[in-house]
Amino acid sequence: MRILVTGGCGFIGSNFVRLLHQERPDAEIINLDLLTYAGNPANLVDLEGSARYRFVRGDIRNPEQVDALVEGSDALVHFAAESHVDRSTKRPGEFIETNVYGTYVLLDAVRRLAPRARFLQVGTDEVYGDVEFPSFPDENAVLLPSSPYSASKAGADLQVLAAHRTFGLDALISRCTNNYGPYQYPEKLIPLFIVNALENEALPLYDGGTQVRDWLFVEDHCRALLLLLERGSAGEIYNVGANQDPEVSNREITRLILELTGRPESLIRPVEGLRPGHDQRYAVGTQKLRALGWSPECDLVEGLRRTVAWYVERRDWWEPIRSGEYRAFYEQHYGQALGSGKAAAPKRAAKASNS
Ligand SMILES: NC(=O)c1ccc[n+]([C@@H]2O[C@H](COP(=O)([O-])OP(=O)(O)OC[C@H]3O[C@@H](n4cnc5c(N)ncnc54)[C@H](O)[C@@H]3O)[C@@H](O)[C@H]2O)c1
Repeated sequence: MRILVTGGCGFIGSNFVRLLHQERPDAEIINLDLLTYAGNPANLVDLEGSARYRFVRGDIRNPEQVDALVEGSDALVHFAAESHVDRSTKRPGEFIETNVYGTYVLLDAVRRLAPRARFLQVGTDEVYGDVEFPSFPDENAVLLPSSPYSASKAGADLQVLAAHRTFGLDALISRCTNNYGPYQYPEKLIPLFIVNALENEALPLYDGGTQVRDWLFVEDHCRALLLLLERGSAGEIYNVGANQDPEVSNREITRLILELTGRPESLIRPVEGLRPGHDQRYAVGTQKLRALGWSPECDLVEGLRRTVAWYVERRDWWEPIRSGEYRAFYEQHYGQALGSGKAAAPKRAAKASNS
């Protein structure tokens, strides 16, 4: 069984590759990743030397590179994407190229060279847009993406459905809520706030932190993906989420992080002004996936405790990231100099990252 994983050096992809390698000893895994700012080969350093794992640096937008790897593959799990909402509002074209065109290149290669291979598209609940409480959209809900990121992911999903319907590809889609856990690039809310807290730097929380996301521990997402890869039905969409009850706001997440890192609430820096197209609440109905036997194993407090412990222990992983490209983006976007220990005045409407 040869499984091609795209974007396996990113946050969720690397957690998935590790799980797959551990749980399926017959799986040969090829990881195609461009190593953008978000991809880090160090995420899978523990698999180096495994005869069943191979990393290939390459671009899902390059048909020649993709063709060579798709031929002979039995399944493809597609994580590779531009994934940060804040970046998508600045450079939307890059999101269309990678998330929409890149997905087309993969589907086209599967159609021509591995028409019986299973194709699992790793999607996001953000395609449903802002969801009013107490609604929980199911998989048939209308798509109302708010950001260039979620619109590009919706474009990818629709191509996957069309490839199933028109070409008969064995393709399916997962749509997961926000993930957190080890190896998440520290630009997204939870890892950003953990590392800032550990460094005694300000936590830029905006609009009172009232936004609600249904945070899921990354390992639970990866187990859902493995289940869908093996037992999901072709042409179907499966929502994935923790369905936390009660729901938890970003403000409460921030408080939990401060508690777990032993830092004071005075580190919170309230930020004025909305991110353009900013969604207040995400939530999904997950009955379809749960009917296959999946449920989350890690609750939010335990997941955050494990995540904070990982970032405390793995400074070797995140300290090198907080320089170069990261520093430039952070300073421009959050209006804060790294390492100053204090928040500077925002250069423009500074924003905290929510997804
Ligand atoms: N993070 C979340 O909370 C979340 C939730 C639901 C769904 N998703 C989806 O899961 C997937 C993975 O998310 P993540 O948070 O791990 O993202 P990430 O940004 O951490 O990783 C993306 C990976 O894709 C690679 N990549 C980017 N462009 C590429 C290209 N052109 N060719 C090959 N590789 C390329 C990057 O190098 C990186 O390793 C994405 O498709 C995202 O939309 C994420």
